[in-house]
Amino acid sequence: MNSKKFSLEGKVALVTGGSRGIGRAGALAMAEAGADVVVSSRKIDGLKPVADEIKALGVRGEAIAAHNAKIEDSRALIDQVMEKFGRLDILMNSAGTNPYYGPLMEQDEKTWDVTFNVNLKGLFFLSQLAAKVMKKQGGGSIINVSSIGGLRAGDLGCYCVTKAGVIMLTQVMAKEWGQFNIRVNAVAPGIIKTRLSEALWKDPEVHEEAVSSIPLMRLGEPDEITGAVLYLASDAGSYTTGATIVVDGGRMHGGPAHLKKY
Ligand SMILES: NC(=O)c1ccc[n+]([C@@H]2O[C@H](COP(=O)([O-])OP(=O)(O)OC[C@H]3O[C@@H](n4cnc5c(N)ncnc54)[C@H](OP(=O)(O)O)[C@@H]3O)[C@@H](O)[C@H]2O)c1
Repeated sequence: MNSKKFSLEGKVALVTGGSRGIGRAGALAMAEAGADVVVSSRKIDGLKPVADEIKALGVRGEAIAAHNAKIEDSRALIDQVMEKFGRLDILMNSAGTNPYYGPLMEQDEKTWDVTFNVNLKGLFFLSQLAAKVMKKQGGGSIINVSSIGGLRAGDLGCYCVTKAGVIMLTQVMAKEWGQFNIRVNAVAPGIIKTRLSEALWKDPEVHEEAVSSIPLMRLGEPDEITGAVLYLASDAGSYTTGATIVVDGGRMHGGPAHLKKY
């Protein structure tokens, strides 16, 4: 394997949820690999410092505010990327939300709709808009941030259903858009220390319980997702589509064997 295959020089990447956490880490990693990177999320104030960090790496960086669940925002976002950069090679869909921690028995319609609209509907329509551009250009790479909660039943009921939807959406988009040389893949993180997962690590007792469910016995950091992102974004992953790469410290396999009492 030639490490030059991981280069993103000459490519333009758009990262939703780019203001912090996994999206920010992915945006900076792609900038370091040579891509010009646009970061997007709802709040411009959180995006501007990331665009500055991107520019400090010697590539073009841009911050554009857009609500992921509003299709008119997504349309304006893609239009602005095209106006400013003239092309779009990589879309990393990292914007995500989980407004409700609690039993399915008590879930209300509003939190169900918000979770689905941001995590699944918004992700689809932005991907569709990006794919139309990529089709004209002769190809591209779409990377969807799902979760291991989309692969096996976790405790965040509705959120897990949206993340399972993202994995299936990844597969059907890959199957349909392969003919246009558009690769569509997903990354499924375990527990990564970000604002979204605060409820699982801020309280020391909850943190300890979480750690005991992970063979590597620690939570992940956002930049530990970036190896998978770079592989999928670049020519290193040129024959990979429809895949879901799990990055979870082994959590899918249950807790560390040496802690078992039987
Ligand atoms: N952390 C984990 O343990 C974990 C595990 C598995 C999967 N994930 C997934 O990883 C992705 C990134 O999450 P994270 O952990 O990095 O969380 P985070 O640090 O809280 O970042 C979430 C990002 O999404 C943006 N966002 C939220 N709602 C949005 C909306 N309606 N429209 C546009 N942008 C929106 C936020 O910015 P604004 O507030 O400015 O909009 C922020 O940039 C999510 O899809 C999440 O489900 C996380």
